[in-house]
Amino acid sequence: MDLRSVIREIPDFPEKGIGFKDITTLIKDKEAFKYAVDLIVQDLKDKDIDYIVGPEARGFLMGAAVAYALGVGFVPIRKKGKLPAEVVRKEYSLEYGTDILEIHKDAIEKGSNVAIVDDLMATGGTVCAVAELLEEIGANVKAMEFLIELSFLKPNEKVKKYHVNSLVKYESE
Ligand code: PRP
Ligand code: MG
Repeated sequence: MDLRSVIREIPDFPEKGIGFKDITTLIKDKEAFKYAVDLIVQDLKDKDIDYIVGPEARGFLMGAAVAYALGVGFVPIRKKGKLPAEVVRKEYSLEYGTDILEIHKDAIEKGSNVAIVDDLMATGGTVCAVAELLEEIGANVKAMEFLIELSFLKPNEKVKKYHVNSLVKYESE
């Protein structure tokens, strides 16, 4: 299965010069979606994962499916002001702009093993902010899983100390 062939590329979105990787075409394809989720589950099977953590919004799409297939719970990370209980927050920089991410302070028991799942790693800013939040509340980040990695933006330098698995890598823009 060639996952790359079901990822649609939209030139100049959301800004001129950015080639947007659209995963809606991948996740609506029942075979591709299942194949991608199964590959991630395969990579996580032996890691004693207690929770899958997914950042809003596209991390929910993959993360919840992976959690279900792996048979573990799902914990959402949300953008500012959306979570109702007490939160820990982190400001982070994006490929375009900055934002704030939050997690419920009591979402994960200290010492739990977690894997972060998101659709895409670009600069690595989002996943690093998520990892910092998780470590702040006492979780062990055992893996980072992505459908897509924009390798040409060199995100791996930021996440060197983690196990990273990206299903499709783009080496140039
Ligand atoms: C996109 C993508 C990743 C992040 C990757 O999310 O879904 O979460 O950017 O970029 P980075 O590695 O440079 O941080 P975005 O914040 O655009 O929003 P969405 O998931 O809510 O669509
Ligand atoms: Mg996102």
